[in-house]
Amino acid sequence: MKRALFIAMLFAIVGGIVFAETQVGIVLPTKDEPRWIQDQTRFLDALKSAGFSAKVLFSQGDSAKEKANVEALVSENIKVLIICPQDGTAAAAAADLAHSAGVKVISYDRLIRDTTSVDYYVTFDSFQVGKAWGDYLNSKVPAGSKGNNLYLYAGAASDNNSFIFFEGAWSALQPKIADGTFIVRNSEKATGLAKKAKLTRDEESQIIGQVTTNWNFGDAKNKAEANLTAAPKSAKGTVYICAPNDGTARAIADAFAADKDVRTYYITGQDAEIASIQYIIDGKQSMTVLKDVRTLVKDAIAAAVAYMKGQTPPVTTYYNNGKKDVPAKPTAIVVVTKDNVKKEIIDSGYWPASDFTGLK
Ligand code: BGC
Repeated sequence: MKRALFIAMLFAIVGGIVFAETQVGIVLPTKDEPRWIQDQTRFLDALKSAGFSAKVLFSQGDSAKEKANVEALVSENIKVLIICPQDGTAAAAAADLAHSAGVKVISYDRLIRDTTSVDYYVTFDSFQVGKAWGDYLNSKVPAGSKGNNLYLYAGAASDNNSFIFFEGAWSALQPKIADGTFIVRNSEKATGLAKKAKLTRDEESQIIGQVTTNWNFGDAKNKAEANLTAAPKSAKGTVYICAPNDGTARAIADAFAADKDVRTYYITGQDAEIASIQYIIDGKQSMTVLKDVRTLVKDAIAAAVAYMKGQTPPVTTYYNNGKKDVPAKPTAIVVVTKDNVKKEIIDSGYWPASDFTGLK
Protein backbone atom coordinates (compact mmCIF):
# COMPACT_ATOMS: atom_id res chain seq x y z
CA MET A 1 0.00 0.00 0.00
CA LYS A 2 2.73 2.40 1.06
CA ARG A 3 4.72 1.36 -1.95
CA ALA A 4 1.78 1.99 -4.29
CA LEU A 5 1.33 5.46 -2.79
CA PHE A 6 5.01 6.17 -3.21
CA ILE A 7 4.91 5.13 -6.86
CA ALA A 8 1.79 7.18 -7.45
CA MET A 9 3.46 10.22 -5.91
CA LEU A 10 6.58 9.67 -7.93
CA PHE A 11 4.49 9.56 -11.10
CA ALA A 12 2.73 12.74 -10.11
CA ILE A 13 6.03 14.56 -9.55
CA VAL A 14 7.73 13.24 -12.68
CA GLY A 15 4.54 13.85 -14.66
CA GLY A 16 4.41 17.37 -13.32
CA ILE A 17 7.92 17.99 -14.54
CA VAL A 18 7.60 16.26 -17.91
CA PHE A 19 4.25 17.83 -18.72
CA ALA A 20 5.12 21.26 -17.31
CA GLU A 21 2.78 23.68 -18.98
CA THR A 22 3.60 26.99 -20.56
CA GLN A 23 0.44 29.04 -20.86
CA VAL A 24 1.69 31.69 -23.25
CA GLY A 25 4.37 31.26 -25.91
CA ILE A 26 6.18 34.29 -27.28
CA VAL A 27 8.17 34.03 -30.50
CA LEU A 28 10.37 36.93 -31.67
CA PRO A 29 12.22 37.19 -35.01
CA THR A 30 15.89 37.66 -34.13
CA LYS A 31 18.35 38.52 -31.38
CA ASP A 32 20.56 40.26 -33.92
CA GLU A 33 18.63 43.54 -33.93
CA PRO A 34 18.39 45.80 -30.86
CA ARG A 35 14.67 46.31 -31.55
CA TRP A 36 13.77 42.71 -30.66
CA ILE A 37 16.07 42.63 -27.64
CA GLN A 38 14.05 45.65 -26.46
CA ASP A 39 10.90 43.55 -26.80
CA GLN A 40 12.40 40.57 -24.98
CA THR A 41 13.58 42.76 -22.10
CA ARG A 42 10.24 44.53 -21.79
CA PHE A 43 8.39 41.18 -21.94
CA LEU A 44 10.53 39.56 -19.25
CA ASP A 45 9.97 42.60 -17.08
CA ALA A 46 6.19 42.65 -17.55
CA LEU A 47 5.86 38.86 -17.23
CA LYS A 48 7.09 38.98 -13.61
CA SER A 49 3.67 40.22 -12.55
CA ALA A 50 1.54 38.85 -15.40
CA GLY A 51 0.20 35.91 -13.38
CA PHE A 52 0.77 33.19 -15.96
CA SER A 53 3.67 31.06 -17.17
CA ALA A 54 5.36 32.13 -20.38
CA LYS A 55 8.40 31.52 -22.49
CA VAL A 56 10.19 33.70 -25.07
CA LEU A 57 11.87 32.01 -28.04
CA PHE A 58 13.80 33.55 -30.95
CA SER A 59 13.64 32.44 -34.59
CA GLN A 60 17.03 33.89 -35.60
CA GLY A 61 15.79 35.07 -38.97
CA ASP A 62 14.74 31.57 -40.01
CA SER A 63 11.13 30.62 -40.76
CA ALA A 64 11.88 26.90 -40.25
CA LYS A 65 13.22 27.62 -36.77
CA GLU A 66 10.18 29.78 -36.13
CA LYS A 67 7.86 26.90 -37.00
CA ALA A 68 9.87 24.50 -34.83
CA ASN A 69 9.57 27.00 -31.96
CA VAL A 70 5.81 27.11 -32.40
CA GLU A 71 5.62 23.30 -32.54
CA ALA A 72 7.60 23.04 -29.31
CA LEU A 73 5.34 25.58 -27.58
CA VAL A 74 2.18 23.85 -28.78
CA SER A 75 3.49 20.58 -27.37
CA GLU A 76 3.87 22.40 -24.03
CA ASN A 77 0.14 23.07 -24.18
CA ILE A 78 0.17 26.84 -24.64
CA LYS A 79 -3.21 28.55 -24.73
CA VAL A 80 -2.00 31.70 -26.49
CA LEU A 81 0.78 32.31 -29.00
CA ILE A 82 2.22 35.81 -29.35
CA ILE A 83 4.31 35.80 -32.49
CA CYS A 84 6.24 38.38 -34.47
CA PRO A 85 6.88 36.69 -37.81
CA GLN A 86 10.25 36.68 -39.49
CA ASP A 87 8.49 36.41 -42.86
CA GLY A 88 4.81 37.38 -42.82
CA THR A 89 3.68 34.85 -45.42
CA ALA A 90 5.91 31.96 -44.40
CA ALA A 91 4.61 32.25 -40.82
CA ALA A 92 1.08 31.34 -41.95
CA ALA A 93 1.96 27.64 -41.62
CA ALA A 94 3.07 28.11 -38.00
CA ALA A 95 -0.09 30.09 -37.22
CA ASP A 96 -2.25 27.37 -38.82
CA LEU A 97 -0.51 24.69 -36.79
CA ALA A 98 -1.09 26.52 -33.50
CA HIS A 99 -4.63 27.52 -34.36
CA SER A 100 -5.69 24.01 -35.28
CA ALA A 101 -4.42 22.90 -31.84
CA GLY A 102 -6.90 25.36 -30.29
CA VAL A 103 -4.30 28.03 -29.52
CA LYS A 104 -5.26 31.72 -29.88
CA VAL A 105 -2.81 33.42 -32.22
CA ILE A 106 -1.77 37.03 -31.64
CA SER A 107 0.33 38.60 -34.38
CA TYR A 108 2.80 40.88 -32.64
CA ASP A 109 4.08 44.06 -34.37
CA ARG A 110 4.22 42.37 -37.79
CA LEU A 111 1.10 40.89 -39.39
CA ILE A 112 1.04 37.25 -40.44
CA ARG A 113 -0.35 37.15 -43.97
CA ASP A 114 -2.59 34.94 -46.06
CA THR A 115 -4.22 32.86 -43.35
CA THR A 116 -7.41 33.04 -41.29
CA SER A 117 -5.53 31.62 -38.28
CA VAL A 118 -4.67 35.02 -36.80
CA ASP A 119 -7.07 36.05 -34.02
CA TYR A 120 -5.68 39.47 -33.13
CA TYR A 121 -3.00 41.95 -34.14
CA VAL A 122 -1.10 43.95 -31.52
CA THR A 123 0.61 46.80 -33.33
CA PHE A 124 1.67 50.40 -33.52
CA ASP A 125 0.08 52.70 -36.03
CA SER A 126 2.59 51.86 -38.74
CA PHE A 127 0.98 54.11 -41.37
CA GLN A 128 1.64 57.04 -39.03
CA VAL A 129 5.27 55.94 -38.67
CA GLY A 130 5.79 56.30 -42.42
CA LYS A 131 3.75 59.48 -42.61
CA ALA A 132 5.90 60.97 -39.83
CA TRP A 133 8.99 60.38 -41.99
CA GLY A 134 7.40 62.10 -44.97
CA ASP A 135 6.08 65.00 -42.89
CA TYR A 136 9.48 65.46 -41.28
CA LEU A 137 11.36 65.56 -44.60
CA ASN A 138 8.74 67.90 -46.10
CA SER A 139 9.15 70.26 -43.16
CA LYS A 140 12.89 70.60 -43.85
CA VAL A 141 12.52 71.69 -47.47
CA PRO A 142 12.86 75.46 -48.05
CA ALA A 143 9.40 76.82 -48.90
CA GLY A 144 8.72 76.98 -52.63
CA SER A 145 12.00 75.30 -53.61
CA LYS A 146 12.09 72.70 -56.38
CA GLY A 147 14.32 69.77 -57.34
CA ASN A 148 15.40 68.75 -53.83
CA ASN A 149 17.25 65.41 -53.68
CA LEU A 150 15.23 62.60 -52.18
CA TYR A 151 16.58 59.12 -51.46
CA LEU A 152 14.07 56.43 -50.51
CA TYR A 153 14.83 53.26 -48.57
CA ALA A 154 12.47 50.53 -47.35
CA GLY A 155 12.34 47.51 -45.04
CA ALA A 156 12.25 43.86 -46.07
CA ALA A 157 9.59 42.88 -48.63
CA SER A 158 8.83 39.80 -46.49
CA ASP A 159 7.61 42.11 -43.71
CA ASN A 160 4.07 43.45 -44.15
CA ASN A 161 5.06 46.51 -42.11
CA SER A 162 7.46 47.61 -44.84
CA PHE A 163 4.42 48.17 -47.05
CA ILE A 164 2.43 50.04 -44.41
CA PHE A 165 5.41 52.27 -43.56
CA PHE A 166 5.93 52.92 -47.25
CA GLU A 167 2.25 53.79 -47.75
CA GLY A 168 2.44 56.31 -44.93
CA ALA A 169 5.62 57.86 -46.32
CA TRP A 170 4.20 57.96 -49.84
CA SER A 171 1.04 59.69 -48.62
CA ALA A 172 3.15 62.61 -47.42
CA LEU A 173 5.92 62.60 -50.04
CA GLN A 174 4.05 61.80 -53.26
CA PRO A 175 2.43 65.26 -53.64
CA LYS A 176 5.88 66.82 -53.26
CA ILE A 177 7.40 64.43 -55.79
CA ALA A 178 4.51 65.07 -58.19
CA ASP A 179 4.91 68.88 -57.99
CA GLY A 180 8.69 68.78 -58.41
CA THR A 181 9.65 69.79 -54.86
CA PHE A 182 11.53 66.50 -54.66
CA ILE A 183 13.34 64.46 -57.27
CA VAL A 184 13.71 60.80 -56.30
CA ARG A 185 17.36 60.00 -56.97
CA ASN A 186 17.47 56.25 -56.42
CA SER A 187 14.28 54.67 -57.78
CA GLU A 188 13.01 55.02 -61.36
CA LYS A 189 9.94 53.06 -60.31
CA ALA A 190 9.06 55.74 -57.76
CA THR A 191 9.72 58.47 -60.29
CA GLY A 192 7.55 56.67 -62.84
CA LEU A 193 4.68 56.43 -60.34
CA ALA A 194 5.03 60.01 -59.08
CA LYS A 195 1.56 61.05 -60.22
CA LYS A 196 -0.22 58.22 -58.39
CA ALA A 197 -1.42 59.14 -54.91
CA LYS A 198 -2.50 55.61 -54.05
CA LEU A 199 -0.35 52.71 -55.16
CA THR A 200 -1.39 49.09 -55.54
CA ARG A 201 0.50 46.52 -53.49
CA ASP A 202 2.17 45.41 -56.69
CA GLU A 203 3.37 48.95 -57.45
CA GLU A 204 4.64 49.28 -53.90
CA SER A 205 6.47 45.98 -54.36
CA GLN A 206 8.19 47.34 -57.44
CA ILE A 207 9.50 50.40 -55.60
CA ILE A 208 10.39 48.44 -52.45
CA GLY A 209 12.22 45.95 -54.68
CA GLN A 210 14.52 48.78 -55.81
CA VAL A 211 15.12 50.41 -52.45
CA THR A 212 14.90 47.60 -49.89
CA THR A 213 17.45 47.26 -47.11
CA ASN A 214 16.05 43.82 -46.16
CA TRP A 215 16.18 45.28 -42.63
CA ASN A 216 19.88 44.51 -42.85
CA PHE A 217 22.47 47.11 -41.88
CA GLY A 218 25.10 45.78 -44.29
CA ASP A 219 22.61 45.78 -47.17
CA ALA A 220 21.58 49.32 -46.25
CA LYS A 221 25.18 50.52 -46.32
CA ASN A 222 25.90 48.80 -49.64
CA LYS A 223 22.77 50.17 -51.25
CA ALA A 224 23.47 53.71 -50.06
CA GLU A 225 27.05 53.51 -51.32
CA ALA A 226 25.90 52.16 -54.69
CA ASN A 227 23.32 54.96 -54.94
CA LEU A 228 25.98 57.57 -54.14
CA THR A 229 28.39 56.11 -56.68
CA ALA A 230 25.70 56.27 -59.38
CA ALA A 231 24.53 59.79 -58.44
CA PRO A 232 25.98 62.86 -60.16
CA LYS A 233 27.24 65.73 -58.01
CA SER A 234 24.01 67.62 -58.72
CA ALA A 235 22.08 64.85 -56.91
CA LYS A 236 24.06 65.45 -53.74
CA GLY A 237 24.61 68.72 -51.85
CA THR A 238 21.63 68.82 -49.51
CA VAL A 239 19.81 65.49 -49.41
CA TYR A 240 16.62 64.17 -47.83
CA ILE A 241 16.73 60.50 -46.89
CA CYS A 242 13.74 58.39 -45.97
CA ALA A 243 15.32 55.55 -43.97
CA PRO A 244 13.06 52.80 -42.61
CA ASN A 245 14.50 52.15 -39.14
CA ASP A 246 17.29 53.19 -36.81
CA GLY A 247 19.81 50.46 -37.63
CA THR A 248 19.55 51.06 -41.37
CA ALA A 249 19.42 54.85 -40.81
CA ARG A 250 22.78 54.80 -39.03
CA ALA A 251 24.31 52.69 -41.81
CA ILE A 252 22.90 54.95 -44.54
CA ALA A 253 23.76 58.15 -42.64
CA ASP A 254 27.38 57.01 -42.28
CA ALA A 255 27.57 56.35 -46.03
CA PHE A 256 26.16 59.78 -46.90
CA ALA A 257 28.33 61.53 -44.31
CA ALA A 258 31.40 59.94 -45.90
CA ASP A 259 30.60 61.37 -49.37
CA LYS A 260 32.48 64.62 -49.87
CA ASP A 261 29.77 65.99 -52.18
CA VAL A 262 27.05 65.64 -49.56
CA ARG A 263 26.91 68.87 -47.57
CA THR A 264 23.81 68.40 -45.44
CA TYR A 265 21.54 65.43 -44.96
CA TYR A 266 18.22 64.90 -43.23
CA ILE A 267 17.45 61.30 -42.33
CA THR A 268 14.55 59.52 -40.66
CA GLY A 269 14.36 56.34 -38.54
CA GLN A 270 12.30 54.45 -36.00
CA ASP A 271 12.63 52.39 -32.80
CA ALA A 272 14.40 54.90 -30.55
CA GLU A 273 17.41 52.60 -30.33
CA ILE A 274 20.04 53.76 -27.86
CA ALA A 275 22.65 54.14 -30.60
CA SER A 276 20.28 56.29 -32.67
CA ILE A 277 19.31 58.48 -29.74
CA GLN A 278 23.04 59.15 -29.41
CA TYR A 279 23.18 59.88 -33.17
CA ILE A 280 20.32 62.36 -32.72
CA ILE A 281 22.07 64.07 -29.82
CA ASP A 282 25.23 64.23 -31.95
CA GLY A 283 23.37 65.59 -35.01
CA LYS A 284 24.09 62.49 -37.13
CA GLN A 285 20.47 61.28 -37.39
CA SER A 286 17.62 63.79 -37.68
CA MET A 287 14.69 61.97 -36.12
CA THR A 288 13.42 58.66 -34.89
CA VAL A 289 9.95 57.37 -34.16
CA LEU A 290 9.48 56.16 -30.62
CA LYS A 291 7.27 53.11 -30.60
CA ASP A 292 6.95 52.53 -26.87
CA VAL A 293 7.53 48.78 -26.65
CA ARG A 294 6.31 48.83 -23.04
CA THR A 295 2.82 49.63 -24.35
CA LEU A 296 2.95 46.95 -27.03
CA VAL A 297 3.99 44.35 -24.48
CA LYS A 298 1.26 45.47 -22.11
CA ASP A 299 -1.36 45.22 -24.87
CA ALA A 300 -0.12 41.77 -25.90
CA ILE A 301 -0.25 40.49 -22.33
CA ALA A 302 -3.71 42.00 -21.78
CA ALA A 303 -4.95 40.33 -24.97
CA ALA A 304 -3.51 36.96 -23.87
CA VAL A 305 -5.21 37.30 -20.47
CA ALA A 306 -8.51 38.20 -22.13
CA TYR A 307 -8.34 35.07 -24.29
CA MET A 308 -7.47 32.86 -21.32
CA LYS A 309 -10.55 34.23 -19.52
CA GLY A 310 -12.69 33.50 -22.57
CA GLN A 311 -13.02 37.19 -23.40
CA THR A 312 -11.92 39.16 -26.46
CA PRO A 313 -9.40 42.02 -26.53
CA PRO A 314 -10.43 45.58 -27.56
CA VAL A 315 -10.78 46.39 -31.25
CA THR A 316 -10.63 49.82 -32.90
CA THR A 317 -9.77 48.80 -36.45
CA TYR A 318 -8.96 45.90 -38.77
CA TYR A 319 -5.93 45.06 -40.91
CA ASN A 320 -6.46 42.91 -43.97
CA ASN A 321 -3.85 40.17 -44.23
CA GLY A 322 -4.89 38.93 -47.67
CA LYS A 323 -7.35 36.39 -46.22
CA LYS A 324 -8.94 38.05 -43.21
CA ASP A 325 -9.66 41.42 -41.64
CA VAL A 326 -7.70 40.94 -38.44
CA PRO A 327 -8.99 42.88 -35.41
CA ALA A 328 -6.51 45.30 -33.83
CA LYS A 329 -6.06 48.30 -31.60
CA PRO A 330 -3.02 50.17 -32.91
CA THR A 331 -0.91 52.22 -30.49
CA ALA A 332 0.11 55.83 -31.16
CA ILE A 333 3.68 56.76 -32.02
CA VAL A 334 5.88 59.70 -30.97
CA VAL A 335 8.28 61.63 -33.20
CA VAL A 336 11.62 62.29 -31.51
CA THR A 337 14.12 64.94 -32.62
CA LYS A 338 16.94 66.79 -30.88
CA ASP A 339 14.32 69.25 -29.59
CA ASN A 340 12.24 66.81 -27.54
CA VAL A 341 14.68 63.93 -26.98
CA LYS A 342 15.10 64.72 -23.28
CA LYS A 343 11.37 64.86 -22.61
CA GLU A 344 10.33 61.82 -24.67
CA ILE A 345 13.26 59.49 -24.02
CA ILE A 346 14.79 60.41 -20.67
CA ASP A 347 11.98 62.04 -18.69
CA SER A 348 9.54 59.35 -19.87
CA GLY A 349 11.87 56.71 -18.39
CA TYR A 350 12.37 54.99 -21.75
CA TRP A 351 16.18 55.03 -21.48
CA PRO A 352 18.29 56.38 -18.61
CA ALA A 353 20.32 59.57 -19.14
CA SER A 354 23.43 57.59 -18.18
CA ASP A 355 23.21 55.73 -21.53
CA PHE A 356 24.14 58.94 -23.37
CA THR A 357 26.80 61.61 -23.62
CA GLY A 358 26.30 65.26 -24.52
CA LEU A 359 22.67 65.45 -23.39
CA LYS A 360 21.49 68.98 -22.66
C1 BGC B 1 9.36 46.72 -36.98
C2 BGC B 1 10.44 47.75 -36.75
C3 BGC B 1 11.81 47.11 -36.95
C4 BGC B 1 11.87 46.36 -38.25
C5 BGC B 1 13.16 45.58 -38.41
C6 BGC B 1 9.53 46.09 -38.32
O1 BGC B 1 8.54 45.16 -38.57
O2 BGC B 1 8.08 47.32 -36.86
O3 BGC B 1 10.31 48.31 -35.47
O4 BGC B 1 12.82 48.07 -36.93
O5 BGC B 1 10.80 45.46 -38.36
O6 BGC B 1 13.29 44.57 -37.49
